[in-house]
Amino acid sequence: MSRTDAPRAATVRVPAKVNLALRVGPPDPDSGYHPLATVFHAVDLCDEVTVRRARSTSLQVTGPFREGVPADPTNLAWRAAELLRENYARTCGVRRPSPVAITLEKNIPVAGGMAGGSADAAGVLLAANELWGEELTPLDLQDVAAELGADVPFGLMGGNALGLGRGDELSTVLSQGELHWVFCVATAGLRTPDVYRELDRQLGWDGPPTPETSAARTAAPEPPQELLQALRTGDPHEIARHLENDLQAPALALQPGLQATLDAGREVGAVTGLVSGSGPTVALLCESREHAIDVSVGMAALRPEIQVFTATGPAPGARVVDTRH
Ligand code: C5P
Repeated sequence: MSRTDAPRAATVRVPAKVNLALRVGPPDPDSGYHPLATVFHAVDLCDEVTVRRARSTSLQVTGPFREGVPADPTNLAWRAAELLRENYARTCGVRRPSPVAITLEKNIPVAGGMAGGSADAAGVLLAANELWGEELTPLDLQDVAAELGADVPFGLMGGNALGLGRGDELSTVLSQGELHWVFCVATAGLRTPDVYRELDRQLGWDGPPTPETSAARTAAPEPPQELLQALRTGDPHEIARHLENDLQAPALALQPGLQATLDAGREVGAVTGLVSGSGPTVALLCESREHAIDVSVGMAALRPEIQVFTATGPAPGARVVDTRH
């Protein structure tokens, strides 16, 4: 597309995620980041991101989960727009494109372990690239995404993916069929760095390495092979046996009430449950769409104070749904 017929506005839909496995290794002594072996699974609960040409960058937040979302330059979505503008100038050798007015429709719970903030940043990258004439390739966008945060590249990719490194070195995972979920949203969120810090405290990774621990402290976690096999069968009971999350214990330590949500999920017949990412959202795996509706009705009756919703995966990554000229 030439720059003259580029649109004035673009809207992108971008999915939430749950980690089907999240293996965490000891933090890198320099960056403090933890090496991961994780399996991301995108679900069809999406934020909608619209960008329009404007005189200066701005951000407006709407939708059911808008409360508490900063509408200022600290928001990752705002940083995504600024970083992409700089990359256009550097990579394409063009003048910095016009700023954008961003609107986020927040349907993904905030600070819930479902990568909603990262999804919005991924959405801004794809939408602004559309607006500015698609000068950057999908690979360029992935590089910019990785600079913004560990979960942002997966927001662009979607589906099921193995994530290594910080979670940003992605490869596609083969799977069969769909998985049906009930998500239970806690009233208070958890900050991802706090959950990693609690993991470090629990595992003694917060002090300087000793001769005994230094070998273990250089080890990157192994990919979860049995889960990858199970995903090829598509059988939720087989998959349930291999779901795992190293951040579940620290999330439960910081919010002990989550155990009652996991217990309630089993009581109402979910196949299994786990904390989503760094929490505190709890994901309950179900056998089918109908079963997920039954489980959500059961949860609403047993724990009326908790907000529940159903979702299905794998869902596609960020995609343009509307452009206006
Ligand atoms: O990359 P992102 O901004 O999502 O990470 C938020 C925080 O979570 C980081 O600042 C870091 O404290 C922690 N984190 C980590 N190791 C990872 C991913 C995140 O320690 N692989």
